[in-house]
Amino acid sequence: MNRVVVAGSFNVDHVWRVPALPQAGATLSGDYTTGPGGKGFNQAVAARRAGAGTCFVCALGDDLGAQLARVLCTADGIDLRDVVVQAPTGTAGIYVDAQGRNSIVIGAGANAALQPAFVAEALAGLQPGDVLVAQLESPLDAVAKALDAGRAAGATTLLNPAPANVAIDHAMLERADILTPNETEFAAMLGRHVGARVEADAVSGIDQQRLHALCRDLTHGTVVVTLGASGCFVSHADANLRGDTTACYRVPAEAARVVDTTGAGDAFNGALAASMALKPERAFAEHVRFAGRYASRSTELYGAALAMPRMPVE
Ligand code: RIB
Repeated sequence: MNRVVVAGSFNVDHVWRVPALPQAGATLSGDYTTGPGGKGFNQAVAARRAGAGTCFVCALGDDLGAQLARVLCTADGIDLRDVVVQAPTGTAGIYVDAQGRNSIVIGAGANAALQPAFVAEALAGLQPGDVLVAQLESPLDAVAKALDAGRAAGATTLLNPAPANVAIDHAMLERADILTPNETEFAAMLGRHVGARVEADAVSGIDQQRLHALCRDLTHGTVVVTLGASGCFVSHADANLRGDTTACYRVPAEAARVVDTTGAGDAFNGALAASMALKPERAFAEHVRFAGRYASRSTELYGAALAMPRMPVE
């Protein structure tokens, strides 16, 4: 059976629910919770809970955060391949407002010490048909090594270029068979790589052919721009429609009773990877629709990894 293999970050999330996101100089009171997160781990949990055999490659400290990662991987049946380093396990401070929007500050900690050599060793078992997933909360040489290992093994490589403040070069984009920016990340990459000035909040309003042309200017692979409540936009190269009948299209979002959008992008990526791994015969649009449904459900619960629904691909 094809698997999802995620190389990336694990964080202990510290979360405050507040009426409004804090302004400079403000002191607020909020409801506090803590739980597992990190884009890599959230994506691995989503892939697993969507029914895929899942491996997660990361760096952890020698501390309680690392124990949390191990306990959760065992509980969910995730094959954890970790290296223990001389740094605290990653952390994130997250504020969630009354509309479910968030602001996040990352303390990379051990995630910053993930080495390419360890990644290569941990990914030695990749097979054709597997889906290799990476994000940008790990050192870029480790991310590049993970994507290269995926390519070399004949796996599909999926890069979620998040968070938006991490700049990557064009060679990194081209390592991804599938690139999944949100509108903020897409706008940042267009500015950096295409020389197109587009505001993030204007992306969802751009007409379909223009969006497709921008995606084609950005990279050779498939691009899925996630647009929050506006769903997502898919753009393929003509040479590889991935089973679809058209090179570009929009997929609307599923209605949801949103309480917390933290990790919704991670839910989408993990579920997309799981669907591709488990049902490779399906058209790409079906994988995207499943991922959208999965991500919508994740926004109806508080938290990041623990908000991933148990919703297997059928
Ligand atoms: O995408 C959400 C995640 O971003 C949180 O879990 C936090 O840890 C940060 O990595």
